[in-house]
Amino acid sequence: MFKSIFALAACALAFTSASAYGAQENTPILIKFSHVVADNTPKGQGALLFQRLVEERLAGKVKVEVYPDSALYGDANELDALRNNEVQLLAPSLAKFEKYTKQLQVFDLPFLFDDLAAVNRFQKRAKGRQLLRAMEDHDIVGLAYWHNGMKQLSANKALLVPADAAGLSFRIQPSSVLEAQFAQLHATPQVLPFAEVFDALKNGRVQGAENPWSNISSKQLHRVQPFISETNHGVLDYMLVSNPRFWYAIPHQLRTELEGIIDEVTYEVNRQAEAANLADRQRIEASGTSRIIALNEEQRDAWRQAMQPVWQQFETVIGADVIKAAQTVNRKKRD
Ligand code: LMR
Repeated sequence: MFKSIFALAACALAFTSASAYGAQENTPILIKFSHVVADNTPKGQGALLFQRLVEERLAGKVKVEVYPDSALYGDANELDALRNNEVQLLAPSLAKFEKYTKQLQVFDLPFLFDDLAAVNRFQKRAKGRQLLRAMEDHDIVGLAYWHNGMKQLSANKALLVPADAAGLSFRIQPSSVLEAQFAQLHATPQVLPFAEVFDALKNGRVQGAENPWSNISSKQLHRVQPFISETNHGVLDYMLVSNPRFWYAIPHQLRTELEGIIDEVTYEVNRQAEAANLADRQRIEASGTSRIIALNEEQRDAWRQAMQPVWQQFETVIGADVIKAAQTVNRKKRD
């Protein structure tokens, strides 16, 4: 009895929100998908593949519009736009959710994940999946994790050991963990939207940055960063998110079909991300604009030692259980 009253109330709510959110009969549901990177990146390709599959399979029922390159919303306002239903899909980097949950900051901890395969294992396990629901109280529901890749450090000078970074300003995403990471290096972190990174590096407002190869290449950052150290010190991945009031108001059958498409797209994005980053690394190398610095074990260890105190700083904030669950995926690989 209790259950059926609850179910009825849920239906009524879904109906009200469905009308409110434009899911009326005969009118295709419009999904605006906004993001801040170029089309030729793992996220950009994922958004376009989602659009294509929806067009092929759900034409007349759902329409997807993709807005890349911060053309519609940028870092400063895209999450508010999602929560206000002005856009219905985003895939912000995991570093950009701090305002809504501290737990996702686990992904920013330096040298936590050995590689993208370890990140993948964590995302698939119970703890990783739980984090997809961590922001529902803030009108954000996670639908999938999408990979980009491991981050490299770039600068206007060669960075071989941590002391080389001291005194430089680095552009960061809005994450306290990343802020602390650069503070550990005695460098100055500066939060800037992704759309401003190229100009900030070009005009010297900041002297360095951290990015996967794909973001460096697609935004031509290598043209203004003569040195790139292959540190692989952290990950830059995404959460595909919607607004639960919109998402759960989509009629069940249609939502199931959309979720199936998202599964397929996620598989493709994650299958291709590493290769795409490697190809971009080669493109950068071939361009001859930047020296790519491969670190030896000792040098990489020095970066690890310098940055790792951040873990302890954020253990209580993120949750020791979350960090432990993430560490386990590396150990598994070594078994
Ligand atoms: C950044 O701001 O550097 C990245 O989050 C951009 C992106 O979406 O890959």
